[in-house]
Amino acid sequence: MLKFNIYNKSCYSLAELENNSIESLITDPPYGISYQNNYWDKDLPSKEIWQNSFRVLKEGSFGLVFSSIRLMHRLMVDLEDSGFIIKDVLMWSYLNGMPKSRNVGLTIDKELDIESKKIGEYKYVQGYKKGGADNYIAKTKYKLSPSSELGKKYDGAGLGIKPAYEPIIMIQKPIITSKNIAQNIIINGAGALNLEETRIPYENGETKVGHNPHPNGRVAANILRTDKFKDGYDKFFLVPKVRQNKDDFNYHPTLKPVDLMHHLVKLITFDKQTVLDPFMGSGSTGLACLKLKRNFIGYELDNGYFKIAETRLKKEKTIVDSSLF
Ligand SMILES: C[S@@+](CC[C@H](N)C(=O)[O-])C[C@H]1O[C@@H](n2cnc3c(N)ncnc32)[C@H](O)[C@@H]1O
Repeated sequence: MLKFNIYNKSCYSLAELENNSIESLITDPPYGISYQNNYWDKDLPSKEIWQNSFRVLKEGSFGLVFSSIRLMHRLMVDLEDSGFIIKDVLMWSYLNGMPKSRNVGLTIDKELDIESKKIGEYKYVQGYKKGGADNYIAKTKYKLSPSSELGKKYDGAGLGIKPAYEPIIMIQKPIITSKNIAQNIIINGAGALNLEETRIPYENGETKVGHNPHPNGRVAANILRTDKFKDGYDKFFLVPKVRQNKDDFNYHPTLKPVDLMHHLVKLITFDKQTVLDPFMGSGSTGLACLKLKRNFIGYELDNGYFKIAETRLKKEKTIVDSSLF
């Protein structure tokens, strides 16, 4: 029978879990960038969680850890210092990232105490709200253009480019010393990626490439995309971003798409194995696990998010269990 165990507490000690007992780690931890000022995103997690993840994973197990462009280097050092091998960095790319920037020309006007020119109006809403533009209060803002000479020179200049991907660090706990891959898998059931189940099917009408094309498609790549970019490189796993508030009751601000988690769970696990997510949020990894008949262990500190995860997982488990009989 499929199992999920979830804990409403800090994950750092993983005290409930035995050494060398779990086959994979998939998690989306705090990025440490104060995203939308969330209280839990002020810092990167303590290294203790990676040391304990290393302790509870079986030798050869793979892990996938979401990260941010700005701080992934620090997270990678913490993971490596905790004993993991850095195997790859997957890039989950999308088209709808918003540049976090400002018009430097207008900032210069302000600094020089010169009023910028009003050249129009627009409706502004912070973030996306369910129900479309008519269902929330939009503020009217002015479109401005710099008035000062220096402001004009820097009109449109900014401080950052449009973010179009999130990195996902792939790690592995080294296999048992003095054993080879096959011996490690025989002992631990861990040490290989599930490349067969994660093949990307050929598109209708696409000519198969290579001397010996596999009937089920291409091997999964380290680029995952949200939409077709129509640039000739669309042969990767495609998964749209989910909107916050997509489900009425799920208000988690950094909700990950279950389809994305589904692909990642399939990539590093095999049937009936167990996935650990120490920072489960609203439980998206767990949901993907149940759909794929993987066992799941999750931790979440915040009681509100924990309850959302519990509701989602219980509902999915009822569906999965009834389909087993
Ligand atoms: C980026 S979010 C995960 C969101 C998740 N991927 C989803 O789809 O809902 C990270 C989560 O880690 C939780 N968290 C932060 N510190 C924690 C800790 N020490 N132990 C357990 N959870 C923690 C936060 O409350 C937050 O919900």
